Amino acid sequence: MKNKGLILITGATGYIGSHTVIELINAGYDVVGVDNFYNSTAKVLDGIKKIVGFNIKFEEVDCSDYKAFEKVFVKYPNIVGAIHFAACKAVGESIEKPLLYYRNNIVSLLNLIDLMNKKAKQANIVFSSSCTVYGQPSKKYLPIPETAPLVKSPSPYGKSKQMAEDILSDSVVAFPELKVCALRYFNPIGAHPTAYIGELPNGVPMNLVPFITQTAAGIRDHLNVFGDDYNTPDGSCIRDYIYVVDLAKAHVKALDKLLGEEPEAKKAAAKKIVAAKNSPYPAAEASGRWFVYNLGTGKGLSVLQLVKGFIKATGVKFNYVIAPRRKGDVEQVWADPSKAKKELGWKAATPIAEVLKSAWKWQQTLPKK
Ligand code: UD1
Repeated sequence: MKNKGLILITGATGYIGSHTVIELINAGYDVVGVDNFYNSTAKVLDGIKKIVGFNIKFEEVDCSDYKAFEKVFVKYPNIVGAIHFAACKAVGESIEKPLLYYRNNIVSLLNLIDLMNKKAKQANIVFSSSCTVYGQPSKKYLPIPETAPLVKSPSPYGKSKQMAEDILSDSVVAFPELKVCALRYFNPIGAHPTAYIGELPNGVPMNLVPFITQTAAGIRDHLNVFGDDYNTPDGSCIRDYIYVVDLAKAHVKALDKLLGEEPEAKKAAAKKIVAAKNSPYPAAEASGRWFVYNLGTGKGLSVLQLVKGFIKATGVKFNYVIAPRRKGDVEQVWADPSKAKKELGWKAATPIAEVLKSAWKWQQTLPKK
């Protein structure tokens, strides 16, 4: 297979990063991963090796340390694109430690943009954004399209994603060689079908599926279903749960798109791109070098539907109780992923039962404590 070029993956040993490394290699890209193991371990590299059959290029680096990060670009001058996963992602923790979140999520991004502009062979960046930028959309925006209004997030985590989109879109306007694709993820779940890699939550899981699998494994006594009095059919919150491998594949498509686009600002301008009405990023959109996609299945599932779906798919029962609402939760949000389908040729295809089985298979490889 023809080598499609060297891609830098920040946060390469993280949950979505590690799955994306696999899909990039499967698609013919060469990768160099970086991570500081803040929320992952070097063992993930062994899991990746078991799947792809070789050690990937990897540097242990904190992307918020400019000098250390710069060395990666000196060592690998042929980078043609970057996917920026490296970030902290716990909403509650971000409220207690805002500076940690702004330093990790914003400074690392500033460093990446600067280094991609100055040192990389081509400045293409795919950014891990989140559906959190929409807050709680009004019913008329469900399923939510990319053109829905953005709402200021109450958490530093959410704000850091919005700031990052602002920084990237301003940078696209200022730097004619830079092309950016911001991918707004809904709720990624599941693990690689080999179960050599998956989600490794630190301590007590905050996210629903790791909590379900740990409870099913007997590590937790019961799952708290946070609220059954929401204005939804069964009263529990609704989310768009997307298989992490499907999500990883979307990154390949996003890179293919950026690498396939004309790099020169002039040619992009000649396309006479008109920004969507009320776009928060009109100048960036008009440059033809700024793209935003929702990555979800297009289908909302309630917490209770997911719990029952897990029991049905795996045959493993576990205890759950209805608990009070969790502060800061939005009631319901799911994606309109039709833009990604139309422009990237991507669609989340894996049935939810298979996804939940993969999460369970992964859980069974983890220590039972
Ligand atoms: C949120 C953000 C998402 C962000 C993620 C980071 C929104 C809509 N989503 O995901 O963008 O990337 O945080 O972690 O802002 N639940 C339980 N019991 C549990 C755990 C969760 O009932 O023990 C429920 C929650 O109330 C929620 C659903 O499960 O309704 C999903 O929760 P979670 O997996 O934590 O993800 P979000 O909060 O949706």
